[in-house]
Order: sequence, then structure tokens, then C-alpha cells
Amino acid sequence: MCGIFGYVGKRNALPILIDGLTSLEYRGYDSAGIYIPESGSVKSPGPVKNLRLKLPKKMKGTSGIAHLRWATHGKPNQINAHPHKDCKGEVWVAHNGIIENYQELKTKLVKLGHKFISETDTEVLTHLIEQYLKKDGDFEKAVIKTLRGVRGTYGMAISYRKEPGKIIAARMGAPVVIGLGENENFIASDPSPILRHTKRVIYLNDGEIAVMGSDSYNIYTLDYNEVKRDVEMIEWGLDQVQKGGFPHFMLKEIMEGPEVIKNTLRGRLLISEGLAKLGGLEAVTEKLRSIQRIIIVGCGTAYYAGLVGEYMLEEYAGIPVEVEVGSEFRYRKPVMDDKTILLAISQSGETADTLEAIREAKRKNILTLGIVNTVGSTIARETDAGIFNHAGPEIGVASTKAFLSQLTALALLTLFLGRQRQMSLVTGRRIAQKLLDLPQKLEKVLADTKYIKSLAKKYSKYKNFLYIGRKYNYPIALEGALKLKEVTYVHAEGCGAGEMKHGPLAMIDENFPSLAIALKDSVFEKMISNIQEIKARKGKIIAVTYEDGKKEVGPLADVVCIPKTLEMLSPILSVVPLQLFAYYFAVEKGLNVDQPRNLAKSVTVE
Ligand code: M6R
Repeated sequence: MCGIFGYVGKRNALPILIDGLTSLEYRGYDSAGIYIPESGSVKSPGPVKNLRLKLPKKMKGTSGIAHLRWATHGKPNQINAHPHKDCKGEVWVAHNGIIENYQELKTKLVKLGHKFISETDTEVLTHLIEQYLKKDGDFEKAVIKTLRGVRGTYGMAISYRKEPGKIIAARMGAPVVIGLGENENFIASDPSPILRHTKRVIYLNDGEIAVMGSDSYNIYTLDYNEVKRDVEMIEWGLDQVQKGGFPHFMLKEIMEGPEVIKNTLRGRLLISEGLAKLGGLEAVTEKLRSIQRIIIVGCGTAYYAGLVGEYMLEEYAGIPVEVEVGSEFRYRKPVMDDKTILLAISQSGETADTLEAIREAKRKNILTLGIVNTVGSTIARETDAGIFNHAGPEIGVASTKAFLSQLTALALLTLFLGRQRQMSLVTGRRIAQKLLDLPQKLEKVLADTKYIKSLAKKYSKYKNFLYIGRKYNYPIALEGALKLKEVTYVHAEGCGAGEMKHGPLAMIDENFPSLAIALKDSVFEKMISNIQEIKARKGKIIAVTYEDGKKEVGPLADVVCIPKTLEMLSPILSVVPLQLFAYYFAVEKGLNVDQPRNLAKSVTVE
């Protein structure tokens, strides 16, 4: 949700800033802008490609800041594009987050004679810094005094025309990472744009600023105490943040599925003992033996992964589970005791609602675990223990490979907790072996996508879809519908197949197709009845099934087959045809698959 980037060094800043923005583009594309102290600023509504068209032939300077906007306050137009400036055009700020007390600050600043030109909350920051600079001209102190007076969230890059050899980063509730290179340093919302320059990074904590020159960096708290922090190495390779010959990140990331599952499982299964070995849970293993309830929290796709986890954990570990979206959990009065744990699922590790749910649980002294993909992210750092997905960076706004890794991690957690309890050795071995078999099975699904592509083409004229599934594949119906909505803008609804007759069936006619996940498992016969109900209302159906279900499903639907696996693991395979269907549908409509309108990859505001 908004991307910030900053550079200070010896090289020409312009191409570095533009490259940085391009790698961050999944964070927002309402507007883009840069500021280079020696040359000035260029901004444009829309994505980075619009900004590129406006760049003058030459812009000199060896430092600068840049921004991609996902609009919150103010329309996504030229005036509201960041970086924002003070009255004199000397202080420039690129900001991700929301300044909650901006109206009150603005009123005071206007009385002092400051002139505002945008509708954004961010602009108050530039004028406040300007105001404090009037006292003694100390840039760092002016930033610190400003930040002490604001309420809200920010990840920020700040530049001051009079000190072009310096940029300042600040963080409160929105991610900021600084990259440490040779004679150059970087600021970014996440490591992906830094990776091509250096792997050495430091993640800022809330309430910290980093003052950066080309050969130096100092981190301070808002009390102006210096902080010493270890440098971390980014694990990801550069190839992981590039398309690698694929037309879109979404397709590349779907195709990475088998490798992603292998990476999530790597070194974590003891087949003969039927155990999962989870290093990230070692410190809390004993505590986990006695827990009696799990609350899973996530948003969007991560929430749906949690719903699958609920089926897994209740069936195989015998632990009662509740799943809730972060935005609801944080405003309820959840009843939790010391036998309850909270499990947060998040690809980015930065989702504001999920993070607040964790903080609320911690305030109540509840043990918090995370299933997080981004190492170094806030959720990874703030949870007490957890499992990293190891899915690699996910760039496409629509979450695909991260979902597979979340489900795989949940299966590992189920095995881990189940074997601490009543799960037998035989069952443990069986789950472990079936997990290991998954990558090969998924390769079969991905080996030939032409048929799914042809289905996407055939159905691309329809404006409404119903997705149905039961039990483990009920959340997959929800996730399939979400994928279609977010990348094609077509209306899709997911529902438990048994719920159809309680309302959604009324919508079905020959113009309202359905996608059914109908695998030959414990609910197969029920699914067939539901498909028949749709058929009887002239509804067209696409069904995902196993080879051995073709006989029953074939006469009723366009059938996509996936290899058979354990019922509990079936969502890891069944979701992939639905991801591909959404992908090809969006391509067929000529849409910007990786950056759907109105969305951003990492939702760091409420
Ligand atoms: O980074 P997170 O996993 O916490 O993100 C949660 C949701 O914002 C995310 O899954 C979103 O729903 C995706 N765009 C879905 O494809």
C-alpha cells in the first residue's frame, strides 16, 4: 500500500529511483513521483510508465526519493502525487500511511502562514519540518520534532534540498527497510527494489529514523537515542523478483507452485517418525502441548487459507479452531484464556488489520504464532514464534503461490500438533508422505494449461459466476471467486455447496455459470447433487475433479482433472486450476493482471 524508495550515493540517482519504483509497482499505481535535490521533481498520475514519459532528458543528482501512491486522502491526480513539498520547495516527503491528526496540524500551520497545495494528509509533514527548521536549521532534529507531534502511521523517505548528501527514513506502523551498499545506501518499503544493489539490509522498528549518507547511516529513536542494529542478509535472489520470461508475475508465480511446496517442506518432514520438525516453533513446543484452542487471523487469501487450516487442525489435531478476518477481530471483545493461541497468516507480514489482531492478543498475554512469507516483516518480528513459508517474493497482487505455501505450512502445523496429541504414527507417516508427493502432482496440473485457457476464453463473456465446494474445498470456492473478482473485475460469489439452496441458487440461469470443486472424497455425492441442482436450472458448470470422478461429473460439466491426494491436502491442488482460470480470463479481457485496479499488494492501512 504505497511504495517509498530513496537513494543516496555516488551514482546518477534518476535511473536507480525509476528502477526502484518499477520493482515496487505492485504496492500502488494511482500516481508516481520522484524528487532529486539538484534537479527538482517530476510526478504523474497513473503507473510508473506515465512518469517515465514525463522525465526530462537530463536530471542530475546523486540522491533522491520516490513514491508510488495507493490513494487514501485525496484523488489520485497530479496535485496529490508524492513526494510532497513545503512552502519553499526545500523539504520533500514520500509517505506510506495515514497521518490521523493532519486536519488539526494543518489548521495550526495555515494560521502560521503555510500554504498547502494538495488534499493529502502527507503535506502537513513537509510544512511541520519546515516550521521546525526555522529554529536552528537542523534537518534531523526538525524531522524528529515533527514525528513526535504526529499521530498515525508512516513509512517515509525525506529529502532536504540544502543537504543533498543525506536522506532520512522513518517508520511507524508502515514497513521501512534500509539497504547498505558500497558508497551508497537505500530506503524502501520492502527489500525487492534493493536486491539488485545489495543484500545487506536493516529493518527499521516503529518509532525509529535512519539518517543516511552515501558512506554512513545512523538509526535514532524519536528521543534521539542512537540505536545499534545487526545487519541482515536478504535471502531472495534477483531472479525471484523478475518475470523470467513469463508475460506476467501471476503466471510465473502459479508455475512456481511445485518448487514453492518443496521449499515450504524442505527439511521439515521426518517420514519414518511421521513428524514435522518446525525450528520456528522450538521455543514454544512445550507450551503448544497444552493449548486447547486456536484463533486463526488473516485477511483475503490468507484468511481463506486459515479456513482450510481449521478443517485440518480440528480433524487431525483435535484442537478447536476459530478463523476470523483481522479487521473484525480487532474490534471485537474476543474471549481468550491462557490455553488459547492466536495464529496469524500473512504473505507480506505487514497487513495492518492482521498486525493489530496480533497486538491485541499480545496485550491479553496470548501466545502468538505466525505463518509468514516475508522474513524481517513486522508480523514475523512481532509474533512469538512461527513458520516461514519460504515461497519467495510474491509480486503479483493476486496471491497464488503464497496461498499454496500457507496451506502447506498449515498441514505441517497440523502434523506437528497432531503428533503431540492423539495422531497415530501411521496417520503421521501418511500425511508426511502425501505432502512429499504434492509437488509432482502439481507439476501434472501445470503441464498442460491449454484446456483451462480455452475454458477461460469460452466463459469470458459471462458477467457473473458462482463457485461452490464443500468441507476442505469450501474455502477454495471462496478463494476461487476472490481470484476471479480481483483480476477480472467480474462478479463472482463463493459459497458452501450446501448453502446454495438457501439463497444463491435463485441467481442461477443459463447466463450464470458455476465452478464446482467436486473431488471423489467424503462429500462427493453431495457435490454431485448440488451440481445436478444447478444443471436443472440450466446453469453451466465447470468442475474440478479427480480422474475417478469423471464418470459422474463428466456428463454434467466441463471437467478439469487433478491428481488424487489426501482429502486434507486436496485444496493445495484444486485451487490451482481456479487460479489459472482467473489468470487466463483476465488476459482474455486484456486487463493488467499483476496490478488490478484499486488494489495494492500489501495493505498497510486499515
Ligand atoms: O500479505 P497478506 O497475506 O497479509 O495479505 C492479505 C490480503 O491482503 C491478500 O491475501 C489479498 O486478499 C490478495 N490480493 C488476494 O489475492
